[in-house]
Amino acid sequence: MRAIDLFAGAGGFTEGATQAGASVLFAANHWQEAVNIHAINHPETQHACQDLHQIDWRKVPAHDLLLASPACQGHSRARGKDKPYHDALRSTAWAVTTGLEVHRPKAFVVENVPEFTRWELFRVWLFSLECLGYKVTTQVLNAADFGVPQSRERLFVVGSLEKKIAVVSPGLPHVPARSIIDWTVGGWSPVEAEGRAANTLTRYRNGRDAHGSEFLLAYYGSENGGRSLDRPIGTLTTRDRYAVVRGDRFRMLTADEVRRGMGFPDGYRLPTAKTHAVKMLGNAVPPPLARGVVGQVMAAVG
Ligand SMILES: C[S@@+](CC[C@H](N)C(=O)[O-])C[C@H]1O[C@@H](n2cnc3c(N)ncnc32)[C@H](O)[C@@H]1O
Repeated sequence: MRAIDLFAGAGGFTEGATQAGASVLFAANHWQEAVNIHAINHPETQHACQDLHQIDWRKVPAHDLLLASPACQGHSRARGKDKPYHDALRSTAWAVTTGLEVHRPKAFVVENVPEFTRWELFRVWLFSLECLGYKVTTQVLNAADFGVPQSRERLFVVGSLEKKIAVVSPGLPHVPARSIIDWTVGGWSPVEAEGRAANTLTRYRNGRDAHGSEFLLAYYGSENGGRSLDRPIGTLTTRDRYAVVRGDRFRMLTADEVRRGMGFPDGYRLPTAKTHAVKMLGNAVPPPLARGVVGQVMAAVG
């Protein structure tokens, strides 16, 4: 099936769709470095570094399946105080409507944070898709149920011209975070060092009490008591979030560990700057989740 990927980032959606058997013909994003990384990993795809508010849809190849992850920062719980640019980010969802209006593919899959449904215009946006003839379903799925070693809930809005498609979670056994850790990597520091933030020390001591000598320590978010390595890691974000603790020392996760935590295959190329790698990974659709969802949609629309 011929697919396109909008807001394609480093290519988690593309990678999963390709693994499911789709041919991703076209990918677009307005961030040049993300386009470059996508192109290195998916050289057969035609790439556009493009603000999708402005795209000339005639330049986009004909396709059967539209994939899109519009910008989520305007919706995400992690966004903090609302800022004027959040309006512009939220408006990226309208590129999906325009693309569908012009090309009318058989089906589409839109991924976003679950809070996307709380957008004031969500119902209008959904209605715009229905006006184009799509039968639409929405579902929140957890990547951990698709074999990703991460608990990450995401909203999937699926539309088809033919029928409603309800994606079913395969409920795979959860993969522990321990599987992503490379204990041979160096760079460990003592936790109880001078100048260490009081909050970090509290989290560390709580983690030792709860999980013993090896566990994950979140630098922000609500996990104040450490996190067991025997369950999937918590949601990986666009900023370094987790340190791994061993005894009285710890270090931040490496980009490779974050890559494994997102379910990208070994050898998937990333930017050399860790901040950029973590940003692209934290934005991505975990490929096994994308593969599961796109595989079911392709089977349903034929
Ligand atoms: C959630 S990420 C997509 C991740 C991607 N689906 C993946 O699986 O790797 C959203 C992407 O949209 C891009 N973006 C935001 N606003 C945009 C716009 N107006 N035009 C094009 N790309 C945009 C961001 O640079 C970011 O890479």
